[in-house]
Amino acid sequence: MSSPPRHDDNKPSRRPITLMKLAEKRALGEPIVMVTAYDHPSAVVVEEAGVDVVLVGDSAANNVLGYEDTVPVTVEELLMLSAAVRRGLKTPLLVGDLPFGSYEASDAQAIATAHRFVKEAGCDAVKLEGGGAMADRARAIVRAGVPVMGHVGLTPQTATALGGYRAQGRTAERARSVLEDALALQEAGCFAIVFEAIPSDVTDVIMEYMEVPVIGIGAGSSTDGQVLVLHDLLAIHTGFKPKFVKEYAAIGEEMVRGVRAYAEEVRSRAFPDPQHSYGIAPEELDRLKAAVDGKPRSVA
Ligand code: KIV
Repeated sequence: MSSPPRHDDNKPSRRPITLMKLAEKRALGEPIVMVTAYDHPSAVVVEEAGVDVVLVGDSAANNVLGYEDTVPVTVEELLMLSAAVRRGLKTPLLVGDLPFGSYEASDAQAIATAHRFVKEAGCDAVKLEGGGAMADRARAIVRAGVPVMGHVGLTPQTATALGGYRAQGRTAERARSVLEDALALQEAGCFAIVFEAIPSDVTDVIMEYMEVPVIGIGAGSSTDGQVLVLHDLLAIHTGFKPKFVKEYAAIGEEMVRGVRAYAEEVRSRAFPDPQHSYGIAPEELDRLKAAVDGKPRSVA
């Protein structure tokens, strides 16, 4: 069995990304790079690539756990994935996504869940979806000592109520309500807010009111940073691709190619070859053969 990749400790290290550093990047107009990761090897990759923020998104539900959407994923499942990502990261800020049903009921529930992400998985912060009443939950979590990232626009946990997976804020009224959600989360103390699937022109208007870093996904280029799902940007899956996804590699195809080549070599007995097999000294082999007398083991 081969070992998982490890950090190269001889490399010059970057400073860990703090909340203050993110605010500073916003002030300096330096784009913030955020990406999802759901396991240790991916964490090592995004660390190596030098991203600023890593989100263990509830999108793990459909990207690695085989669920149809993000609704069924549990706190326990996301805690296990977050802890694995934590073990692979040194510098990016690690944000754990609070799954559907784990924070909406009361401030006490929201605080208890957020504390688990920090204490059990080592997250630096948590993310929750929605404005309105969720701004109160965000405020409660911040007051309990855990930094919160908000998420407005298309919020997949409540996509049904929003009319499906579609861009939000496409009428003046709906755009106004996205603005109000964002302002409520900002006022509640969120250190950053994700804007998902919002027309670029609407984002441009809302950005005039924002004082905390805004990370966009399908929200145009005027935000302070961008986030994409790792499995989307590397094309690890085929299938539905939201309009905002740009593919930077075709890893899924490459994975199939590799496994197919392995299967062919096993079937043709080309693998394993001597290079991938262990040896024994000839005299030891002779001793073994003499000991077993060259006879195959009898079968009862
Ligand atoms: O779960 C997720 O991947 C997210 C990002 C799209 C921001 O919430």
